[in-house]
Amino acid sequence: MSANSPAAVVVLAAGGGTRMKSNRLPKVLHEVCGRSLVGHAVAAAEELTPGQLVVVIGHMREKVAEHLAAHHPGARPVVQAEQNGTGHAVRTALEALAADGIELDGTVIVTTGDAPLLTGGTLRALAGAHAEQGNGVTVLTAVVPEPFGYGRILRDEADGAVAAIVEEKDASDAQRAIDEINSGVFAFDAKLLVGALAEVTTDNAQGEEYLTDTLEILRRAGHRVGAVVAADYRDILGINDRVQLAHARRLLNDRLLERAMRAGVTVVDPATTWFDVQVSYEPDAVVLPNTQLQGETHLGEGCEVGPNSTLKDTRIGAGACVSNTTANGAEVGELATAGPYAYLRPGARLARKAKVGTYVEVKNSELGEGAKVPHLSYIGDATIGEGTNVGAASVTVNYDGVNKHRTVIGAHCRTGSDNMFIAPVTIGDGAYTAAGSVITNDVPAGGLGVGRAQQRNIAGWVERKRPGSTSAQAAAAAADRGAEVPTEA
Ligand code: UD1
Ligand code: CA
Repeated sequence: MSANSPAAVVVLAAGGGTRMKSNRLPKVLHEVCGRSLVGHAVAAAEELTPGQLVVVIGHMREKVAEHLAAHHPGARPVVQAEQNGTGHAVRTALEALAADGIELDGTVIVTTGDAPLLTGGTLRALAGAHAEQGNGVTVLTAVVPEPFGYGRILRDEADGAVAAIVEEKDASDAQRAIDEINSGVFAFDAKLLVGALAEVTTDNAQGEEYLTDTLEILRRAGHRVGAVVAADYRDILGINDRVQLAHARRLLNDRLLERAMRAGVTVVDPATTWFDVQVSYEPDAVVLPNTQLQGETHLGEGCEVGPNSTLKDTRIGAGACVSNTTANGAEVGELATAGPYAYLRPGARLARKAKVGTYVEVKNSELGEGAKVPHLSYIGDATIGEGTNVGAASVTVNYDGVNKHRTVIGAHCRTGSDNMFIAPVTIGDGAYTAAGSVITNDVPAGGLGVGRAQQRNIAGWVERKRPGSTSAQAAAAAADRGAEVPTEA
C-alpha cells in the first residue's frame, strides 16, 4: 500500500446472474480471455495496491470462495447471505472489516464483479479525480447508446453537478431519456460512506438498500459529489448474459491483440486469433490465422505459430515454428519445430532445433538438441538424446496397465521405423535398431537391436488358395513374362 493507495476496494459479486442461465457456474466465474469475471475485477483492484481487497460473495458462494482462494488469494471474501441490494452489500463488507478491528480511513473504491473491461487505469483515474476535487463521493459514469436497465445520472440544472442516481424501475419517463448512466463504480471517503449507508432505506421499487442513494444523502449533507465520465463507454460494460459475455471477450481480445501488435508481434488475422490476458511475447513473433494462445503461453523472438494451433501454458523459443499443433504445458526450444499436426502434452520439452513432425504425440519427454521424431509416433515418458532420429511410426510402450515406465534413447541413435520400445528400456548412444522391432531389452551403445520374426515366403500360395482371382492372374502373367518367382523361402 502506497501513499496514494485506497484504504479498501470492495468488489460486489454476490448477485445471482439469473440471465446467464447457468446451473453450474455463478455469473462471476464465467471466463473472458483466460480469467474469470471476478478475477478481472480483482486484478484491476490489485493494480491500486489497496489496504484491503474485499469481494462480497453470496450466490454459489462456496464456488466463488474456492476460486478466489486458488487464484486470487490476496482477496478477502465476505459473505452477504441475502442479496438485499448494493448498499447492503457494501455495508456488509465494511461491517466484516470493522468486526476484525479494521477501521478504514481514506478512500474506499466500490466496483462490480461483472465488468471485465474495467482496468486498473480507469480505477486509478477515478481515485485521482476523487482526491484532487476533494469529493465525498465520485461516481464513474458513461454516456451509452442504450441506457435501458442502468441507473441514470441526474445533474443539477444550474451547475451540472451530480444530484442523484435514479434506478430504471424508479425513474420517470423524462429521467429514462437520460443517456448518462451509473457504471456501478465509485470512490468514497470511508467515514462518509459508513455514515451515509446507515441512512439508506429500502423505500424503492425493489425494496433494496441502494448504494446509489448515498450520493443524494451526501449531497444534501453538503459534501461534494463528483463524476468521472468514462472516455469509452465500452470500458464499463457489465455482463448479464452470454451474449454480452461473448461481446466483452471480443472487445478484450481486440485490446490484447492491439497491445501485442504495437509491441512488434505480427497477427495475420485478428478476427480468428485469441489471446488470454497472461500471454507474453517478444518482437517479430508471427501468429498465423485461427490460433488460440492460452494461459501463460510465451512467444519467443521471431517464432511462428499457427495456423490452426491452440497453445496453452507453452513456451515457444526464438525462431521456433509450430503449425497446426495443440500444446499444453510444453516447451519448444529455440529454432525447434512442431507439426503440422503435432500434440504436445504436459512435460514435452524440445531442445534447440529439435523436431516433432506430423501426427506425433509427445508427453513428459525430453528431446535433445536436434533430435527428431518426424512421423506418426507416440513418445511418452522418454528421454531422447541429441542428434537422434526416431523412425516413423514408433511407440514408447510406457504403460503396463498399472505403472508408467521410462524409455531412454541415447545421443545420435538411428532407430528404425515401426519400433515398439517396451519400457523400461534403454538404447545406448549411437545405437541403431532394426525396422519393425519390438525392443524389450536394452541395446548397448553402438549396437544394433533387432527384435522381429524372420520372414518366410510360401511359393505358389495364391495359385493354390485363391485360384482364378485377379491376384492369381497377375502372378501367372508375371511367371509368363519370366519374372523371377522364388520357389522357396
Ligand atoms: C446497479 C446500480 C445501477 C447501475 C448498475 C451498473 C444500484 C442500486 N444500482 O444496478 O445504478 O447502473 O448497477 O451495472 O446500485 N450485488 C451484490 N449484492 C446485492 C446486490 C447486488 O453483491 O445485494 C452485486 C451484483 O452481484 C453486481 C452488482 O452488485 O455485481 C450490481 O448489482 P445488480 O443487481 O446487477 O445491480 P443493477 O440492478 O444492475
Ligand atoms: Ca447489473
